[in-house]
Formats: sequence, C-alpha cells, structure tokens
Amino acid sequence: MRIQRIILENFRNYRGIDWSPHSRFNIITGDNAQGKTNLLEAVFFCTAGRSFRTARDREIINWDKEECQARAVVEMNRSSREIEVSLSKSQRTVFSVNGLKKSRGKIFRPCLALSFTPLDLDLIRGAPSERRKWLDLELGPFDYDYIYNLEKFERVLAQRNNLLKKNNSQLADGIEPWNEQVVHYGSRLIYSRINLLKNLFPHLRKVFGDLTSGKEDISFNYLSSLPLEKGMGQKEIEDLYGEIVRKSIAEEIARQQTLFGPHRDDLIFMINRTEARKFGSRGQQRSVVLALKLSLIKFFLEEYQEYPVLVLDDVFLELDSSRRRGLDRLLEGEGQVFITSNSEIKGYFSEDSRTYRVEEGKLYGGDR
Ligand SMILES: Nc1ncnc2c1ncn2[C@@H]1O[C@H](COP(=O)(O)OP(=O)(O)O)[C@@H](O)[C@H]1O
Ligand SMILES: [Mg+2]
Repeated sequence: MRIQRIILENFRNYRGIDWSPHSRFNIITGDNAQGKTNLLEAVFFCTAGRSFRTARDREIINWDKEECQARAVVEMNRSSREIEVSLSKSQRTVFSVNGLKKSRGKIFRPCLALSFTPLDLDLIRGAPSERRKWLDLELGPFDYDYIYNLEKFERVLAQRNNLLKKNNSQLADGIEPWNEQVVHYGSRLIYSRINLLKNLFPHLRKVFGDLTSGKEDISFNYLSSLPLEKGMGQKEIEDLYGEIVRKSIAEEIARQQTLFGPHRDDLIFMINRTEARKFGSRGQQRSVVLALKLSLIKFFLEEYQEYPVLVLDDVFLELDSSRRRGLDRLLEGEGQVFITSNSEIKGYFSEDSRTYRVEEGKLYGGDR
C-alpha cells in the first residue's frame, strides 16, 4: 500500500498542497502547531476513511471555509486508484474511488493504514469505550461484514434506546422488532470480535514475547456483558442474547437503556496474568499497545500480502529501550511510513528516506 500523491484543499491549515511523498520513509519535521499532525491526519484519512484524532469530520475543515477536499493516488496490489474525500460543514462526508461514489465501508474494508500516536495509550489506560473503539475501528474491519453490522447495530440500538426512554405501558409489545434486530447485529459483532481476537492472538503473543525478551507473557479476556461460555458459535451467542433481552426487559424499561450487548463489553489485557490496566507500569502498557499495532501489521500482511501505510505521530518522544526496540520493529519491512518529530531524527533512518519541514500549513524540503 502506497500513497503516490496527495492533494489537499482547506484540510485543517493546509490551504492547498500537492505532494508526491517518498515510497518508504517520510520524515515530517517542524515547530509546534505548524501542521505536522494535520498532514498525517490527511494521509490517514485517505487510507483509513477517518481521522485518528476526531470522530467529527467537520472539525477538519479549515475554519474559514465551508468544505474541504483530500485526494490521494493510492497504489494497492500493483494497481493505482484515486481516492477522493469531500467534507462539508452542512453535509455528510462523501467518498469516491476513481470518480465513483462509494460508501466508507466499501472503500476502507480493511483500513489501508495503521496509526500510532500518543493517544493510543488510552486503549489500555482509558475507559472500556476506548477498547471498544479499538475493536470497532482497528480490528473489526478485518472481518468483511463487521463495518456493515456495526452501522446497523448502532442505528437499531439508538432507536431501541429512544423507545425505552418513552417509558409507556405499551412499550413491552412495541419493542419486540427492535429486540430482534439488536440481537441479530449485536451477536454478529460479538462473534466477530472474539473470532478476530483469537486469530490475532498468536501474533500478539509472539510479538509481545519478543519485545520483552521472553520475560513477559500477554493474554486477554473478552469480558462480555452476556454470560458467554467458551467456544460459543454465532447462533449460540444470538440465542443467549435473545434470552437475556427477553428476561431483562423490565429492568431495561426502568433504566431506560439497552443494558446488554457489544456496546457494554470490554477487553482485558493481562501481563503475566495480572491486569495491565490496573497493575501494569506505563512502559508495560506502552508495550501492549505497540504489540497490538505490530501484530495488526502481521495480520495485514497475512491477509493481503502487503504492508499498510503507517502513520506515526510523535513516537520519538520518551524512547526507552524496549520502546526503541518496538519502534525498530515497526519500521522493519518495506511499507510506506509517515513519521513526525519536532527534533532532528534523520540519523535514525539510514536510507530510503526524505525529510520535510512544515511551516504554517506549507511543506518544504524533501531532501535525503
Ligand atoms: N480546522 C482547522 N482550520 C484551520 N486551522 C486549524 C484547524 N485545525 C487545526 N488548525 C491549526 O493547525 C495547527 C496545529 O496543527 P498540528 O498539525 O496539530 O501541529 P503540529 O505541527 O504541532 O503537529 C494549529 O495552528 C491550529 O490552529
Ligand atoms: Mg503534532
């Protein structure tokens, strides 16, 4: 996966640039608040269909404008395609490939890019919603139906919750069709998550072992709001979910919300059998995040025989030795990498790199 060319119009503080990045390492330097992260965000948007720092697309549009555009020529499996993204303050974001409009899910399934930023530490330290976000955004798209099921689930969940808020006496009957739909899509999401985690795990375990020189062992537990049993198939999860929803309707009406399902689940990571979130050091938590990213690259390679585009924001801050080793691993292989730093890091990259400097939304340089 490679970006051959990217053209931005009014994307954050980039009024207009037309850039053909290097096919391997692109080092983006510059002072604070000049637009380094914004450029990475644009690269990521054209290859993942979303931002890595906001869920609100309109924030990305230049403050003085009503709309913005990003276009990228992306090479995949030795053929090129032009991906175009149009964001508007008054309309939904529109995506197209080679001039044909397509849904976000169709183009970016899987995401063609992987980001690694300081925000990723929230994945371990943060609330359960951060881990669900990771499951939905980074892992889920490896399953062809995941994005579709997720969109459907979110819609029916919102409708069901609206109904539960109305709290009238006929509710128990009127809600039946919503129960069915929530259970249908929700059980598929849970089954996909568990399956994907199971397939990712051998990579994760190996990578984590390598990062810690074999001293630490990682494991995980998908902590569901449903009383799942090991090895349940999709149909069994669906039946169980249906039963729980039927049984808990009175409680849900009283609490005015859907209490069970993938939107209430969590994912626990353990290092040597203790919970990384509660007992892990910051360094250990970072290693878990790094290992997750690295194992996703392996996963990607296995599925598509190509590297995803890698977007690394400020990862050169605070480099301890195990993180340094992790970073070395991330940079191995032959994928295209975009990396920011506000200090001189050229020495880190022996060859195959270009260094750029960002100043107030303009890009300069491109020297070896
Ligand atoms: N929607 C927007 N429109 C115009 N400028 C923006 C927008 N969003 C952020 N900026 C500007 O972008 C700059 C920050 O860019 P950023 O890429 O985060 O900097 P850094 O180089 O430190 O990574 C700030 O000057 C901010 O004011
Ligand atoms: Mg930045």
